[in-house]
Amino acid sequence: MNNEERPTAHDAEDDPRNRDIKIYVNGELVPRERAVVSVYDSGFMLGDGMWEGLRLYNGRWAFLEDHMDRLFDSCRAVSLDIGMTREEIAEALAKTAEANGMTGDAHCRLMVTRGIKARPFQHPSLSRSGPTIVIIMEHSRPVDRMEGPGIRLATVPQVRGLPHAQDAKFNSHSKLNCVIACLQAEAAGADEALMLDPHGFVNTTNSCNFFIVRRGEVWTSTGDYCMNGVTRGKVIEVCRANGIPVFEKNYSLYEAYGAQEAFLTGTFGAQTPVVSIDGKAIGDGTAGPMTRRIRALYKELVRAETAG
Ligand SMILES: Cc1ncc(COP(=O)(O)O)c(C=O)c1O
Repeated sequence: MNNEERPTAHDAEDDPRNRDIKIYVNGELVPRERAVVSVYDSGFMLGDGMWEGLRLYNGRWAFLEDHMDRLFDSCRAVSLDIGMTREEIAEALAKTAEANGMTGDAHCRLMVTRGIKARPFQHPSLSRSGPTIVIIMEHSRPVDRMEGPGIRLATVPQVRGLPHAQDAKFNSHSKLNCVIACLQAEAAGADEALMLDPHGFVNTTNSCNFFIVRRGEVWTSTGDYCMNGVTRGKVIEVCRANGIPVFEKNYSLYEAYGAQEAFLTGTFGAQTPVVSIDGKAIGDGTAGPMTRRIRALYKELVRAETAG
């Protein structure tokens, strides 16, 4: 748990081995305390970069191709040349995992920025070094929240914007929009923020995607204003494959408050139960039956995907 014992969607058991991990920085594996980038790096200066969170099971990265699709699409959309092929990135991931002796229970943050700037200003042409590529891999066993405590959400004033402002589909280094939302949720006494879209429909949370369960149906937002999470896609896929009615649709807080279950999705924690929205209880404080079923189906999908 974090310092204030407040649950978040990214809590993991403390693992002292993480103090001595090796971090990949532009092809070099360096001890954590020496893993640094330039203060002129465009990721540091502007949040001008893209990242992926991946999870290692049984020596394999779950849904690697989906993550690579998103990374390459995102970088292409902002003219950020990764300078490596998918295969080379997979090799860098393998090299980092090997250097850290990791084959499972590991989470990776793969980051690509536009690189070092010649001068400390915004213009992308000032980034002339080539990209900065960093891979942080940590031993990571997420805290199991299925039996509680689940996450308390508060709806916040900060919304996910229209795609022609900053498209929420980008997993960009700059997460200021989400950070502001999370601060607002904390100020409201909650753990994470439930964010609406520009039309007032329920959209997503500051760091995960959001689902509700109503009368045996699973609902999530249309996907037009949120990061289209890989886990979100897989939850929809397992529902469809197993005859669970699932809908990507507009719905409001009216329906969210009346849901029988709600849960978050993300690579880090898979599925995380939500126990309240704006102080209104959802379910009985633990994961509901549909959340548990989806969790089991997702685990099975991961197992099949990462089988040896
Ligand atoms: C804002 C946001 N939403 C959702 C997600 C979950 O995405 P995924 O399921 O691909 O991990 C993330 C994770 O990167 C995120 O940053």
